[in-house]
Amino acid sequence: MVNLLDLFLLQLLFAFFTPCLLHITSSDFISVHPGENITLLCNITDYTEILWYQLRSDEVKLLITAEKWKLKENYSLIYNVNKSHYDVTESSSLVIIEVRKTDLGFYYCGGRNNTKHIQFGKPIRLNFTGGKHTLCQHPA
Ligand SMILES: *[C@@H]1O[C@H](CO)[C@@H](O)[C@H](O)[C@H]1NC(C)=O
Ligand SMILES: *[C@@H]1O[C@H](CO)[C@@H](O)[C@H](O)[C@H]1NC(C)=O
Ligand SMILES: *[C@@H]1O[C@H](CO)[C@@H](O)[C@H](O)[C@H]1NC(C)=O
Ligand SMILES: *[C@@H]1O[C@H](CO)[C@@H](O)[C@H](O)[C@H]1NC(C)=O
Ligand SMILES: *[C@@H]1O[C@H](CO)[C@@H](O)[C@H](O)[C@H]1NC(C)=O
Ligand SMILES: *[C@@H]1O[C@H](CO)[C@@H](O)[C@H](O)[C@H]1NC(C)=O
Repeated sequence: MVNLLDLFLLQLLFAFFTPCLLHITSSDFISVHPGENITLLCNITDYTEILWYQLRSDEVKLLITAEKWKLKENYSLIYNVNKSHYDVTESSSLVIIEVRKTDLGFYYCGGRNNTKHIQFGKPIRLNFTGGKHTLCQHPA
């Protein structure tokens, strides 16, 4: 049964946030607190190899690669630039352990099937919560 209060709150949230969402449709935006562990989802999964990149001030860094072997349903880690800071889930999501300032920026996942060509997924923008988002501010 539909909970009317939840429905009302949901509508309120949408009414409140829709103007913000319109500005960020080109990339997903994720807000975190420093020190949190976070998981970034890759929206492409139909590939045998998944690669995660961070883009930060004009530098593209390869963080993690994971592969899925024949007949296996899950991905396993192949390369990790910093094992104490990154991890990958069996579904190829990137885990960042205890987010720091240097983690802020854009993240891309890519998929590859025994070729040089990499198909990139949706970019994810990571930022700390509490920053000023002038486009999304509502007067009190
Ligand atoms: C984050 O993950 C690490 C490693 O898995 C764990 O030791 C730590 O307790 C986690 N921290 C939080 C805030 O969940
Ligand atoms: C990549 O390879 C897998 C396994 O061989 C296959 O199931 C999948 O359809 C391929 N994906 C693409 C986009 O070619
Ligand atoms: C794949 O991952 C799922 C959930 O993470 C787990 O339940 C399952 O046992 C894994 N399968 C294999 C073959 O490792
Ligand atoms: C790896 O991550 C740890 C903690 O997350 C950090 O202290 C260390 O400096 C990192 N190492 C490198 C080479 O970036
Ligand atoms: C994070 O938020 C701050 C404050 O709004 C902004 O100046 C900065 O450009 C943002 N950084 C990223 C990577 O989006
Ligand atoms: C992933 O997201 C991108 C950007 O929105 C989109 O172009 C692409 O079709 C998506 N891929 C899948 C498999 O959903």
